[in-house]
Amino acid sequence: MTPDESKHGMWSNRWLFVLAAAGSAVGLGNIWKFPYIAGENGGGVFVVAYLFCVALVGVPVMMAEVLIGRQGRQSPINSMRALVQQSDGSKAWSLIGWAGVLAGFLILSFYSVIAGWGLYYIGQLASGSFTGVDGAAAAQALAALHSNPVLMAVFHTVFMGITVYIVSRGVVSGLERAIRWLMPLLFILLIVLLGYGVASGGFAEGFDFMFGLKWDALSVDGLLVALGHAAFTLSIGMGAIMAYGAYVPSSVSITRTVITIAALDTVVALIAGLAIFSIVFANGLEPGSGPGLMFITVPLAFGQMPLGALFGGVFFILVSFAAITSAISLTEPAIAFLVEEYNAVRSRVAISLGAACWLLGLASVFSFNIWSDVYVVGEKTVFDSIDYLTANIMLPLGALFIALFAGYVLPKATVMSQLGITSKFAVAIWTTSTRVLAPLGVLIVFLYTILPID
Ligand code: TRP
Repeated sequence: MTPDESKHGMWSNRWLFVLAAAGSAVGLGNIWKFPYIAGENGGGVFVVAYLFCVALVGVPVMMAEVLIGRQGRQSPINSMRALVQQSDGSKAWSLIGWAGVLAGFLILSFYSVIAGWGLYYIGQLASGSFTGVDGAAAAQALAALHSNPVLMAVFHTVFMGITVYIVSRGVVSGLERAIRWLMPLLFILLIVLLGYGVASGGFAEGFDFMFGLKWDALSVDGLLVALGHAAFTLSIGMGAIMAYGAYVPSSVSITRTVITIAALDTVVALIAGLAIFSIVFANGLEPGSGPGLMFITVPLAFGQMPLGALFGGVFFILVSFAAITSAISLTEPAIAFLVEEYNAVRSRVAISLGAACWLLGLASVFSFNIWSDVYVVGEKTVFDSIDYLTANIMLPLGALFIALFAGYVLPKATVMSQLGITSKFAVAIWTTSTRVLAPLGVLIVFLYTILPID
């Protein structure tokens, strides 16, 4: 049997886990990525597809990750190994853990670059250099940053440095107080932004863009992007939530907790989306203008608001903070594994991993300037390729196999006692979700996007 405590530490109560997992889930994915990919994929149908993926694939897989982690009480790789042994499954299942470590590494490399933009924007907004700008000037400012690899590399370095520093000190310390105050503040500032969007008259059009079902606006690939983003935004498919699950006390209800986290994450994304598209339409901007969308619309809005320099500076501090709590979770599967395997010192592991990830991140920095015409997959830069490979391929596959593992390999008794499920109805929902719905959801999207069906 596995122990009931992890050697890496434990969350002291249910709330701490909710905060940590929500801190992992809510990040650049919600505020930066969701609006820009929704814009690129025509809004409406894309948003609905994303919501379906969150409910059908996201929630059951997140529950599976927490319960696997809590049952194994180790890093994802070793938890999978232990559970495979207990349930006579094939050793190959622990490949999920390895793939997850790789995915986390790849994601962090570009995540840190974008988060670096956010750090840079703290000073830009606070100094008032966006006061009164129009859309063209805001776009110009971002283009100037993109064309400056040194500046981007500096802020990428700062972000990676902060992440490594926090990770090396352990996950639990300090996280609680910070998230408890800063997350609600971020939420309030998103509402302020939305208020601006409403006041400037773009809300109706923004709302229609996000929820109006224009069926021809969604491309085949858009469906895959929606599924990939559902996994990305919930931090599932690579073991981050599994690693955090290992530190969850046995008394916590997994079902209730996971639903709370998924709902919170979705609400933040929808509000960020509504705010940003209101600003887009109020100012005659282009919804499909790519990864710069948030960095153009948000400074523009704060630039026109009273006290905008102050609010804008605070907004980007909070976005950077949300990014850090997500980045931390990207490293946890790898760090926990290395500490277990080699009895390594946490801080050393964190520094080596961070350094390697930083180096790869430079390739994403250069994707926006000196390597902007270096293509890796199809017509995609290094940045676009890593994003595509991780979010749209690795995470959905990870989610698929985690669902299958929980549905078919783990002994039913283990699962039911972990979930505290007793009613026949609840058992049926769980079994159908992990055995049929979640896997089928991923498979259908994959087949649909990969096979040339018309
Ligand atoms: N969910 C985070 C966001 O939306 C990013 C993230 C953190 C993540 N940990 C992850 C994505 C693990 C995939 C897997 O910004």
